[in-house]
Amino acid sequence: MNETLLKQAKAALQNAYAPYSCFYVAAALECADGSVFTGVNVENASYGATLCAERGALAAAVAQGKRDFVRMLIIGGKDGNITDFCPPCGICRQVLSEFCKPNFEIILYNGSDWRTLTLTQLLPEGFTL
Ligand code: THU
Repeated sequence: MNETLLKQAKAALQNAYAPYSCFYVAAALECADGSVFTGVNVENASYGATLCAERGALAAAVAQGKRDFVRMLIIGGKDGNITDFCPPCGICRQVLSEFCKPNFEIILYNGSDWRTLTLTQLLPEGFTL
């Protein structure tokens, strides 16, 4: 359980832009230096141009020179209501693997319970060059 990350993710969730799916997602990414960057999904009329919350948070952090990450908390749900776990999509898992170590933690919250998974658990045998 990480109340600090949850608080920041919940605040960001209100800023999710999801007029097409009405599925709101927020991610709070903790860097090794303790700083936290949030991201939300940003949908687009051309659906495939939609940006996921996880990649938004990662890009915001990288833009500030951060490259060493510890954990990410992800929440999401229809109309912003958190009732189920919201694990990251395959593209986000791959993008996280560009920067994050195998033991990077992904924390999921469904409104009452928590799950913590490592990046390796979510992306076994991931592609690298
Ligand atoms: N979404 C995310 O933000 N992250 C994921 O890992 C999965 C999906 C968003 C994209 C879209 O705006 C909405 O959830 C429904 O797919």
